[in-house]
Amino acid sequence: MTRVHIQDLSIKFGSNEVIKHLDLDVHSGEFLVLLGPSGCGKSTLLHTIAGLNPVSGGSIHIGEQDMTQAEPSQRGVGMVFQSYALYPTMTVKENLAFPLKMAKTPKAELERRVAAAADMLQLTALLERRPAQLSGGQRQRVAIGRAVVREAKVLLLDEPLSNLDAKLRTDLRRELKTLHGRLGNTMIYVTHDQVEAMTLATRIVVMHQGVIQQIGTPAEVYDKPNNLRVAGFVGSPAINRVEGQVGDGGRFAAPGLTVALPAVLASRPQGERLTLAVRPEHVRLGAEQPFEAEVQLVEPLGNQHVIWLACAGSTMSAVLQGQPEVQEGAKVRFGFEAAKTMWFDAAGERLEA
Ligand SMILES: Nc1ncnc2c1ncn2[C@@H]1O[C@H](COP(=O)(O)OP(=O)(O)O)[C@@H](O)[C@H]1O
Ligand SMILES: [Mg+2]
Repeated sequence: MTRVHIQDLSIKFGSNEVIKHLDLDVHSGEFLVLLGPSGCGKSTLLHTIAGLNPVSGGSIHIGEQDMTQAEPSQRGVGMVFQSYALYPTMTVKENLAFPLKMAKTPKAELERRVAAAADMLQLTALLERRPAQLSGGQRQRVAIGRAVVREAKVLLLDEPLSNLDAKLRTDLRRELKTLHGRLGNTMIYVTHDQVEAMTLATRIVVMHQGVIQQIGTPAEVYDKPNNLRVAGFVGSPAINRVEGQVGDGGRFAAPGLTVALPAVLASRPQGERLTLAVRPEHVRLGAEQPFEAEVQLVEPLGNQHVIWLACAGSTMSAVLQGQPEVQEGAKVRFGFEAAKTMWFDAAGERLEA
């Protein structure tokens, strides 16, 4: 088992500082997911752990060893890239064996490892095929297998599922989780897909412009986001935001609605700008609710529906289970589940409520 310990890491390309004084402790055996929008530095961080980028400052320890300046082959990490390049003229078996051949692994050991990886990834029946005779999902399994045969203590995966169609992505996502259970090694997985992050991760690291915004379990990141950026990045449809200010009588006032502030926030100065945020599944519809809106659109999702509401110039979404009894264009009343409402200050930081 191997931990990865990153301290005060900076990575620059010319004058562009892509990773900014980053600290991260990846626990031994965990499935850590780096999540963030395109361009935030996820691949750069992963490649740097693998030894493929020069470090501008700080250190990387893998296990107990300082690997900051070590060659990629010395680090004991395996890497799976987004665009998996298999050798087209080699069979699956030869593709799997290739990294071991390069490392001059003895024949018997090579055979054992290839067979084990093939078994784990359900490739045994396909060993004599060539990449052109495989589906996209099978090819990606071979690419993962090439990292697995090295029996690396740390596996780095950079958006390995993003080139697959939705159904395959879901299947392989489940397989990856099972694989992690069997291998028990440390995995660091990069994605911009929050569903992938939520379903795979033991912990999620949310990044923005080279800076970690939050590290937490999927539930922590979803239920207790540190700031509005994190809140907005996880969850679909995105969390609803209402901008307003502290009014009189411990109330929050926004266009079209006023809400009693939670007790701990009631004494904040009048006029202070706050943002109320509430997830679509915590918006309630019904005649007894306090606010009025017009239904703009009803999106059916089979077992649930997304109701898009227009209220005083802003748009809000509500997710309802089952068949909705609302019509587009109708006036409805809505409200928020008070215990699930989140509050953020003018800088976008969440306030404990
Ligand atoms: N080899 C490189 N040379 C110069 N700039 C780079 C290089 N690699 C990445 N960058 C820049 O670093 C930033 C982060 O890129 P990347 O790590 O690929 O983001 P992500 O994987 O989160 O989408 C981008 O602005 C990108 O242009
Ligand atoms: Mg990337």
